[in-house]
Amino acid sequence: MKFWKKLKHEQLKARIQEALLENVNFSNDASLGYPASKLDSKVFYDDAPFLKDAPTLQTYVANPNNIGCHTFGTSEKAFSGTQKIEKEVLNVLAVDIFKSEEDNFDGYIAPGGTEANIQAIWIFRNYFMNHFQANLNEIAIIASEDTHYSIPKAANLLQIEWIKIPVDFNKRNILISQLDILLTEAQSRNKKYFIVVSNLGTTMFGSVDNPEDYIQILEKYKVNYKLHIDGAYGGFVYPFSNENSLINFTNPKISSITIDAHKMLQAPYGTGVFICRKNLIKNVLTKEAEYVEGMDLTLCGSRSGANAVAVWMILFTYGPFSWFEKISILQMRTSFLCNELDKLKIDYFREPFMNIVTIKSKAIPNELAEKYSLVPQQHTNDNKWFKIVLMDHVEIEDLTNFIEDLRILYHEEKRLTN
Ligand SMILES: Cc1ncc(COP(=O)(O)O)c(C=O)c1O
Repeated sequence: MKFWKKLKHEQLKARIQEALLENVNFSNDASLGYPASKLDSKVFYDDAPFLKDAPTLQTYVANPNNIGCHTFGTSEKAFSGTQKIEKEVLNVLAVDIFKSEEDNFDGYIAPGGTEANIQAIWIFRNYFMNHFQANLNEIAIIASEDTHYSIPKAANLLQIEWIKIPVDFNKRNILISQLDILLTEAQSRNKKYFIVVSNLGTTMFGSVDNPEDYIQILEKYKVNYKLHIDGAYGGFVYPFSNENSLINFTNPKISSITIDAHKMLQAPYGTGVFICRKNLIKNVLTKEAEYVEGMDLTLCGSRSGANAVAVWMILFTYGPFSWFEKISILQMRTSFLCNELDKLKIDYFREPFMNIVTIKSKAIPNELAEKYSLVPQQHTNDNKWFKIVLMDHVEIEDLTNFIEDLRILYHEEKRLTN
């Protein structure tokens, strides 16, 4: 690990203080031109005594705007302190976790995984248009049927077709033969450029697509493609649970990754992360953003520097080893649940390196799903799956209570059928 380490509370505080001192101070400095200020002091007290020990809250009150992209070109001088904090976060994610070469990536903290995914598809769509004079109807997105709905949202916004690849019902892996057929068929409809989204943890199943499944078929037909990894959910799990993971920038075919800090990392909402290889993000440069120093390469525009501080605080409070330990504990809880389900002979799906267990709905009566707030695949009568996500707050006691309720039902059902 080159950038990621564990710091003591005093060190964390001192680093954030230093960053805030580098930013404009709306209370003291003559800053006449910004359509912004610190948070309203009638509501958000900047003299509350607890703030001095709470660097993230202090940053929220100071209200920095990390607008723009700070890995590329120049940026607004007024917020250089929190921009540096953002770069430190990106270095941990891109270099230490996802194995990019140092200074060979661009990225930013987006409002969420949806924006990070749309940003990726926007960049690649424009890349094909800028470099190959592609027409919109010659470009298509390829992603599995288990892909998050942000991908069809991107398809709709960017006006490109989504080719949905079916998955095996029980194993949730993409059907390679279907991919082959659908790609051939798309080419016959004059699709020439493909944006592939490979899941590093699907929303409902936690299933992990093997990027090589896509790569082998796309290369068989020698088509022009770009590959994005949606690690919104799995990005803070899989690289730690599977030390041999190759779903990272060591694979030259992978061009970009989404990783949400507001899911597994338990950061506040507004902390999706987008990272791509160098020389790609310029495809979405909005030159008209002339009043922003360095102009804008992001979809959202203004975004809080406090979000960067929140993610930085979590990463540097844990450090890599404590984070690994946390993920290992969640993996153990997940395995515990799976063992108990095995004993009851209840069917479920679990990707071995992930902490989501998705149970076939026929084993779960609706009252139980409601009691334990299980999430259905569909809010309709023909729902086939319910998921349990082994987050930090889902403890062994919760799982044993759930299993006990299931066992009672199971015996009851057996008694009635005998
Ligand atoms: C795999 C995946 N991608 C993208 C998203 C979208 O993230 P957000 O809700 O932060 O926009 C989610 C959200 O659940 C997700 O699970």
